[in-house]
Amino acid sequence: MMETRYSVRKANLSDLHKIKALYRTVAALSGGIAREADEVTWDYVRNFIEKSLGAGVILAVENPLDPEEIIAEVHTYTPGIKVFAHVFGDLTIVVHPDHQEKGVGKLLFATLMEEIESRHPEIVRVELIARESNEKAIRFYKKFGFKAEGRLENRICGKTGKLEADIPMGWVRQGPGQGPG
Ligand SMILES: CC(C)(COP(=O)(O)OP(=O)(O)OC[C@H]1O[C@@H](n2cnc3c(N)ncnc32)[C@H](O)[C@@H]1OP(=O)(O)O)[C@@H](O)C(=O)NCCC(=O)NCCS
Repeated sequence: MMETRYSVRKANLSDLHKIKALYRTVAALSGGIAREADEVTWDYVRNFIEKSLGAGVILAVENPLDPEEIIAEVHTYTPGIKVFAHVFGDLTIVVHPDHQEKGVGKLLFATLMEEIESRHPEIVRVELIARESNEKAIRFYKKFGFKAEGRLENRICGKTGKLEADIPMGWVRQGPGQGPG
């Protein structure tokens, strides 16, 4: 099976240029991440790598045929103030278009959630935002236990100038005294 060829590893700052290239490619296709390609800057990528390494998780998948290429990445980190010390936010996942719908996203996200569940007991809540039209991503997150928590009307303005809602989604750790369960 295709997905058995892919493996997940931790990312680090030396992956900066590979991750930037991946984000530029994904951003060039509208409908996925919020940024456009020219907004995927060194500062943007360096900033999320450093924050994830400092107080979060950042994972990557290499191209099995070319380890110099990163074909998928996910990151999330704590917002940085004490009241949110139990929260991972700013979660973003991207899979290179040539490798989508082959199970890579699922492998990467499952690894992220396993890591959070087992190695970050302090994290009780994980949050992200997906635009309403990104039904694929919303369905994807729901399979991992994320729930839509509302609608931020007219928050996103697409390339055509059309406004659409952003959907905040959250995962809450289940356990005694925590979360709805
Ligand atoms: C969303 C994204 C991360 C999914 O990664 P992927 O590698 O393509 O997804 P997978 O192949 O692992 O599929 C996992 C699940 O996603 C769903 N999915 C994937 N492709 C789909 C499609 N074309 N239509 C409907 N559902 C689809 C399925 O539910 C699948 O679960 P299954 O195993 O039960 O079939 C990827 O498409 C992506 O990077 N998109 C662009 C960036 C983006 O939108 N990021 C999220 C911003 S909020």
